[in-house]
Amino acid sequence: MAPLNVGIVGATGAVGKEIIGCLEKCCSFPIDSLRLFGSKRSAGRKIDTSKFGNITIELFSEDSARECDVVFLAVDGDFSRAHAENICKGDDGAIVIDNSSAFRYKEGIPLVVPEINAETTKGKKLIANPNCTTAIGLMAVWPLHQLFGLSKMVMSTYQAASGAGQPCMDELMEGTRSVLNGERDVAENKVFAHPLPFNVIPHIDKFQDNGYTKEEMKVTWETRKICGLADDFPVSCTAVRIPTARAHSESIVALFDTPVDIVAARKALEEAPGVKLVDDIENLKYPMPLTATGQYDVEVGRLRRNIAFDNALEFFVCGDQLLRGAALNAVLVAEAMVKNGSLKSKNAM
Ligand SMILES: NC(=O)c1ccc[n+]([C@@H]2O[C@H](COP(=O)([O-])OP(=O)(O)OC[C@H]3O[C@@H](n4cnc5c(N)ncnc54)[C@H](OP(=O)(O)O)[C@@H]3O)[C@@H](O)[C@H]2O)c1
Repeated sequence: MAPLNVGIVGATGAVGKEIIGCLEKCCSFPIDSLRLFGSKRSAGRKIDTSKFGNITIELFSEDSARECDVVFLAVDGDFSRAHAENICKGDDGAIVIDNSSAFRYKEGIPLVVPEINAETTKGKKLIANPNCTTAIGLMAVWPLHQLFGLSKMVMSTYQAASGAGQPCMDELMEGTRSVLNGERDVAENKVFAHPLPFNVIPHIDKFQDNGYTKEEMKVTWETRKICGLADDFPVSCTAVRIPTARAHSESIVALFDTPVDIVAARKALEEAPGVKLVDDIENLKYPMPLTATGQYDVEVGRLRRNIAFDNALEFFVCGDQLLRGAALNAVLVAEAMVKNGSLKSKNAM
């Protein structure tokens, strides 16, 4: 195939940097040029990449982004709402893969985990990348759903500080340091609602009228859309911020339509692409943020028959939210679109 011109908007951010890494390390399609875009804060700066050389960050403009074949947006929802549709408009626009939540629930815009619903990208110009918590959990739930038919799901999360961006990560590190060196008894908090060091906070994103937070409802809404389940399919989540640096963890209770078979479940997880079964309790092996960090695969373990419900499995999942929950998923979406002919070089047309 003719090599593609690729753009990343938000290349200096937590997700943008990881997209560069995925394009360097694991991308299967040929790349002619990589263009990096930012705001006035970073335009003109250079980013050194091992595969694409030393790249000067360009000030973002819709016209420049439209020159690319595919553009990864790694900014916020307001930015995507303002620019995504203009970048992909018309036959000469670029394919846009958006990491924000701006378009995730919009009808006609695919919300994609490629291992689950890559086919929904066919012929589309704008694709939404899912919420990181949902994407990580569904990597484990999907193969089990294929076997036994999911009927309900309850998830409790343990989410890393970096899931809320670099300033939150800085607050965790600085706050921990200030307590450990005796400067303060309790760390200061500016970004989080409460001090995160030596604490857990059962509150991520805004509270909704039903008492859930938006992060929790994203898991419900996005599970339904990605897995093609009914609009009232029962999914409940409690999302908790914990003082880890990177990689989200999730305890999942999945109820099924048919009786569960642990051996078959284990085999399905072992064979599922993007999943690594880490479940050897005799040798104290189970998923953990420390081992999941930097990994493309999502770790799944502590798999057991749930003793409180019929036809139910319980398991623990850890995944790098910047990779599977954002950058890697986005690059895999682009690869799927290359494969199904929706993404190709405009020069070759
Ligand atoms: N962090 C995660 O774990 C995670 C996971 C999944 C999805 N997401 C989503 O991914 C997106 C990016 O998140 P992040 O954590 O990477 O944020 P971040 O670290 O705060 O980075 C934001 C990026 O946006 C750029 N930017 C801001 N305003 C801009 C403008 N007007 N024009 C061009 N670039 C602009 C910034 O570049 P400058 O330095 O040039 O301003 C920066 O590179 C968000 O929508 C977030 O919700 C994040």
